[in-house]
Amino acid sequence: MQKILEELEKRRETARMGGGKARIERQHAKGKLAARERIGLLLDEGSFEEFDMFVEHRCTDFGMADATIPGDGVVTGWGTVNGRIVYVFAKDFTVFGGSLSEAHARKITKLQDMALQNRAPVIGIFDAGGARIQEGVAALGGYGEVFWRNVQASGVIPQISLIMGPCAGGDVYSPAMTDFIFMVKDTSYMFVTGPDVVKTVTNEEVSAEELGGASVHAVKSSIADGAYENDLEALRQMRRLIDFLPANNTAGVPVWPGFDDIKRAEMSLDTLIPTNPNQPYDMHELILKVLDEGDFFELQEKFAANIITGFGRMEGRSVGIIANQPKVLAGVLDSDASRKAARFVRFCDCFDIPVITFVDVPGFLPGTAQEYGGLIKHGAKLLFAYAEATVPKLTVITRKAYGGAYDVMSSKHIRGDLNYAWPSAEIAVMGAKGAVEILYRSELGDKDKIAARIKEYETRFANPFVAAERGYIDEVILPHNTRLRLIRGLKMLAGKKAQAPWKKHDNIPL
Ligand code: HXC
Repeated sequence: MQKILEELEKRRETARMGGGKARIERQHAKGKLAARERIGLLLDEGSFEEFDMFVEHRCTDFGMADATIPGDGVVTGWGTVNGRIVYVFAKDFTVFGGSLSEAHARKITKLQDMALQNRAPVIGIFDAGGARIQEGVAALGGYGEVFWRNVQASGVIPQISLIMGPCAGGDVYSPAMTDFIFMVKDTSYMFVTGPDVVKTVTNEEVSAEELGGASVHAVKSSIADGAYENDLEALRQMRRLIDFLPANNTAGVPVWPGFDDIKRAEMSLDTLIPTNPNQPYDMHELILKVLDEGDFFELQEKFAANIITGFGRMEGRSVGIIANQPKVLAGVLDSDASRKAARFVRFCDCFDIPVITFVDVPGFLPGTAQEYGGLIKHGAKLLFAYAEATVPKLTVITRKAYGGAYDVMSSKHIRGDLNYAWPSAEIAVMGAKGAVEILYRSELGDKDKIAARIKEYETRFANPFVAAERGYIDEVILPHNTRLRLIRGLKMLAGKKAQAPWKKHDNIPL
């Protein structure tokens, strides 16, 4: 028996070495960790249980019959993050460049099936060269099976992709169908076709970083939800993110012990809004002062920064935050901001995470660039997302809520549950100057007259009371009490049951 046990340990040791010491060292030299090292850092110490360590491919073409490595380029299994179960797979770049074979795909789909059946999140760590070139259509079929399961699991269990190396060809589309993608700066890149193919097809010369590095996807394309300095930091942040997420769409948000007083009044919020309505301020200040312990996990921080999205906690329970950012483009809604926020609202709604919206928006961004780029449809995405969401929706208008953007930003009319305004709120069709220039075009030559008209318009509409008189605003609240009011509101709405009429699915303007 002892011999058998020793044999098992020997086999395990060989499998754990993946593509061998030299390739692991090459991985380290590039500033990247090996697959099992990454899993070790992501999960609670000693909690990882690996599956299918001895799986090998069955390909015999191109000399592959003699080239087998146990595990076949992906490490799969489950473990815990702060005691909560997650399933994880990590591509092993040291084994055939982490490329996907039929057997490799089976390991992933087995894990996806388990995660969906047992209703816990899946985290995929990518560092791979795409389809196993020697396998041909068997590898393509494998990808298809993974993709199909991504879609089945969408909205049932959270799916997170962490890109920690090359991610090309078939490897990009599975992450693209998960809920979140995060990258590591300088060592990861994602593209459908790499620089060489780009050169052949379009004659464009571009580096891997310029084509699909974190500097592209976390800033320009919005493919990535965040980018971190190195593997260690990325894995640490994933643990933090998982703490905010429910295990599945019926589990409810996790509840963590908190030490922040729910009655904490923030007197400084009473002076957050500048006297000059055109002067910006940082909406992060409000977010951080309202959330438990100022703990905010921001998504897409560097993309469409005119809107802020992310997770926080109120009384230990996760909430989704969406907020216009007056500091960037005056907080205007444009196509990018609308898409960014719409996707986030939909994630929160899938997983029953209440949505808190802070509004200071001067409207939609005018101009040909926006209109040609489909602003109508992109803006409609956000409108649609808020309107279809059945989670508790709490809204606080801090300053401007102008025009269509007022309706869109979780207003009462699209079923905001609790709509508060600060006394500084201005709810109107547009700003006073713009309104007067349209209404009193004939008087534009007379500066004094126009100034008086502007004053008149401001007095009438630059406040929350016209909306409050109609019940569109449930209450005008004191800024320093915002945290308490929101926490009480969330309590009041905890039992919310709202159902859309039966449908196969809706038809959000894609
Ligand atoms: C088999 C692969 C491989 C692949 C890499 N390797 N990619 N083996 N199939 N797709 C192997 C290499 O032969 C090498 O083996 C080892 O992995 C490391 O690769 P290197 O090239 O030495 O590493 P590096 O210089 O860092 O370059 C990494 C890379 C490059 C940029 C990922 O390997 C590359 O361009 N690979 C091919 C990418 C690709 O075109 N994939 C197919 C996409 S099409 P040894 O033994 O030397 O260590 C696709 C279609 C699916 O995915 C579509 C479904 C929708």
